[in-house]
Amino acid sequence: MKHTQEKKSIIVKPVNRPLKGSIRIPSDKSISHRAVMLGALTNGIVEISNFSAGADCRSTLGIFQALGVEVEYKSDKNIILSSKNGLRESIDCLDAGNSGTTTRLMAGLLSGQNFYSVITGDQSLRSRPMARVIKPLKQMGASIWARESDTKAPISIKGTQLTGITYESPMASAQIKSSLLFAGLFASGKTVINEPYKSRDHSEKMLSYLGANLVDSGNTVEISASNLQPKPLIIPGDISSAAFFIVAACIVPDSEIIIQDVGLNPTRTGIVDVMREMGADIEILDLKTQCGEEVGDIKVKFSDLKGITISGDMIPRIIDEIPVIAVAASQATGTTIIKNAEDLRNKESDRIKTVCNELSKFGVDITETPDGFIISGKTNLKGKNVLECYHDHRIAMSCYIAGLISDNPNEINEFHWVNISFPEFVDTVNKLLNKGELIYGK
Ligand code: S3P
Repeated sequence: MKHTQEKKSIIVKPVNRPLKGSIRIPSDKSISHRAVMLGALTNGIVEISNFSAGADCRSTLGIFQALGVEVEYKSDKNIILSSKNGLRESIDCLDAGNSGTTTRLMAGLLSGQNFYSVITGDQSLRSRPMARVIKPLKQMGASIWARESDTKAPISIKGTQLTGITYESPMASAQIKSSLLFAGLFASGKTVINEPYKSRDHSEKMLSYLGANLVDSGNTVEISASNLQPKPLIIPGDISSAAFFIVAACIVPDSEIIIQDVGLNPTRTGIVDVMREMGADIEILDLKTQCGEEVGDIKVKFSDLKGITISGDMIPRIIDEIPVIAVAASQATGTTIIKNAEDLRNKESDRIKTVCNELSKFGVDITETPDGFIISGKTNLKGKNVLECYHDHRIAMSCYIAGLISDNPNEINEFHWVNISFPEFVDTVNKLLNKGELIYGK
């Protein structure tokens, strides 16, 4: 199993012109993972259109190939899954790469199969907490173990008959909820999950779309054993990738851009709400529903931003966007406070620490707190920094966006981490710098 990639550092030069034009961003990572996982459980043929080309979703796809699912590429992003004979035991460990979502959701799904599996991944993944899914899965009767007293991958699972439970989740986490929902598909009786706040509900939407016995009442979701029906799945653009461009357009003077075909599920649109509260000029155009998910275009213009406080039920709705929101906060007048976001310390990197480290290098007035940070703006960003990614794609892209408005070029080490979710990131920035045209509608 190899987890090394070619190590690349890049130079980001400050821009001397606005971002203009229309872009498409990568397919939603969360929905792409679920499309493969649930598509493979239909025991049929499922076409997935606009599947994510990022490394994380390729890891999920590779795991299902190892479990006996046939994958045919119609084109780079359109695939056909065939799982007519169900899943079978893999002859090797399952490699989740850098993907926590793959690992935690697969832990639930594999706990209910009639075979043995081991899931592992790269160095960053093997240091991330897994007890959050292992503990409730054990309560469902799963035979599941992991390194360091059942807390760290590799995780080994001897599939067995599960029993439904009612679980009070200690945090709003779609990964915990989805892991238990996927286990619940194979359990006797009902599996009920209560969350303190609602986390992203892509699993619920896709399970309902494919015909599962599921009741979603907001912070409580209930599932029982179900046969899923094969249906085509279309993946929208990823609002977490769009977030880098929403912020970039707000902070690069005179910018005006449209981001097309972005997933606008309300459990994910916190970035739009937060940026609007900070004063951003954002419009949603052409809103429609596709495979149970809202999709539309986002128009953003350069705006005067002001600092705000972000906490509570907003946190799960922006959990992956906080690093780039911190970049926006550095350009906002006044103080921005992010609190109740302690789980940021358990992402691909400790994002409270890594955001503070890297933004401090630009001269941003940022203070780390146990559950977030405090930023006082507005700061003219200083360049000539050597920035680090910490094995974290979202830190890599946040540094790049800050680099666009700093007073001198910056070097970003190991920028290849961007490939986890957004291989075409730099090309997309360059397209907007080359005076693209604004495209309304399709
Ligand atoms: C995800 C859920 C979130 C998010 C992650 C993807 C998912 O994690 O940070 O990038 O697809 O379910 P938590 O559910 O642990 O907050």
